[in-house]
Formats: sequence, C-alpha cells, structure tokens
Amino acid sequence: MDKNKEFHTVRGYQLLDQNNRLLTSAMEDYLEMIYRNFLTEKYMRINMLSEMLNVKPSSATKMVQKLTQLGFVKYEKYGIIFLTDQGRELGEFLLNRHNIIEKFLEMIGINDDLLVETELIEHNISSNTLENIKILNEFFERTPEINKRFKEFKNSYLNK
Ligand code: CO
Repeated sequence: MDKNKEFHTVRGYQLLDQNNRLLTSAMEDYLEMIYRNFLTEKYMRINMLSEMLNVKPSSATKMVQKLTQLGFVKYEKYGIIFLTDQGRELGEFLLNRHNIIEKFLEMIGINDDLLVETELIEHNISSNTLENIKILNEFFERTPEINKRFKEFKNSYLNK
C-alpha cells in the first residue's frame, strides 16, 4: 500500500475524531467488515454481514441504517450495501489500524487469541499512538538483527 496514503487516512480519521468519537466500537466493527468484503466483492448483503459478525439480521439492518445516516454506506433494496467514498476511506483506516495492531502483537510474541487481543485494543487507541506503533513495526521490519536480539532477550528474560 502507498505509504503517504496510509498516513493521510490516519490523519483523516483523527480530524473526524476531534469532537468526541464519531462511531461506536460496534459501528467500527461493522464498517471494518464491510470494507474487508468490499476489497474482494465490491458490495455486501445484510445476511452476509450478519453471518460474518455473528449477529441477527435485524441488528445488522439497524446498524447499517445508522451508518447510512452518517454517510458511510448506501443501503439499497434487496439488502445490498455499498460504501460511499467517505465509508471507503474510513473503512481503509479501520482495516489498516487492525493490521498495524495485529502485526505489533505478533512481533512481541502474542500467538494465542491474536484476533481477540487486537479487537480489544483497536477501538480505544489514539491516532498518535497508532502512528508510533506503526513506526516501531517498520523499525523492527527493517532491522531484522534487532528483532532477533529482542527475541533472544525475551527468551532469556522468561527463562531467568
Ligand atoms: Co478489527
């Protein structure tokens, strides 16, 4: 992914976030899931969404209506959901944020419940902390010898 664009998206959401949070955690989960699907299918159906998120179709419909009011999705007849430009931009940010946190947790050696751990963190992290974690991820990626030293240090620490 284009790095400048990634950072632009992070800042874009920060702007939206200045006066209180725009979306609840649940709304963020919905939008992230719709965006994941958008990358492969270009659209989503209510019943697919409710299955993927393990919720009732009626709950999914309610949430999608809220996201429609906020201008992130277009909900058309036959249960088909499309993302607006704004929805695509925020969805990209949410997926990106998820991936940054997941990569970080993997890097420090979290293997169990990686997805659950990521979900616990992702909704509450500030854009500034996220950006700094992203930099740390890149630092470790670009300096594998330091990554290796960290792993050795951790092993010896745990076996003290
Ligand atoms: Co997520």
